[in-house]
Amino acid sequence: MYKLAIMVSGTGSNFMSIANAIKNNIIQDCEIACVIADREGTLAQQKAEELNIPNFCFPRKEYKQALSDKIYDTIEECGGADLIVLCGFLSILNGKILDKFKNRILNIHPSLIPSFCGDGMYGMHVHEAVIEYGAKVTGCTVHLVDSGTDTGPIVLQKVVPVMTDSPEELQKAVIVEEHKAIVEAVRYFAEGKIEIDGRKVEILY
Ligand code: GRF
Repeated sequence: MYKLAIMVSGTGSNFMSIANAIKNNIIQDCEIACVIADREGTLAQQKAEELNIPNFCFPRKEYKQALSDKIYDTIEECGGADLIVLCGFLSILNGKILDKFKNRILNIHPSLIPSFCGDGMYGMHVHEAVIEYGAKVTGCTVHLVDSGTDTGPIVLQKVVPVMTDSPEELQKAVIVEEHKAIVEAVRYFAEGKIEIDGRKVEILY
């Protein structure tokens, strides 16, 4: 059984897309070993609780630099994981978790990296910046996590045309593609169809 550890900070719609894909056998022989939130009272953690998935909350304001190690230890206590998936997780991981899970941590970002990413580019800020810049296309990126912010190798991307001046409308269009992208990426990892060579990630379709 391929095991996932999922990190969340908010709504958890990407987490739920993965959970539904597992339930519907779109991702096979896979389970969510734990869900970890870095803030209290998230809808994502509530959903994990409803699904009877072991879930934890380690507020980042409280744990600060110790957060990454706490997450690593908790994953180990849950029996380990093959892949960590950051589903709208706003803390930056550091320390041993990055070494122990090298090339096994995924993040999803709501733009076409390397545009509109990095420090301060999260949530609605991303979509506002895309519209302000006048970009004709945006989208989402699933990438591997390294010690930078949104700098790791790209796994897959989906393109969304910019057809609105409303950041909220654009966010709605992008998140539809995010849900497809994160499920696809996790499925490829679970099926062993990913080969990584430096920054190049090959999907063996
Ligand atoms: C998504 O837009 C994701 O790309 C970003 O944070 C948002 C999280 O949404 N990293 P959700 O919590 O999965 O609904």
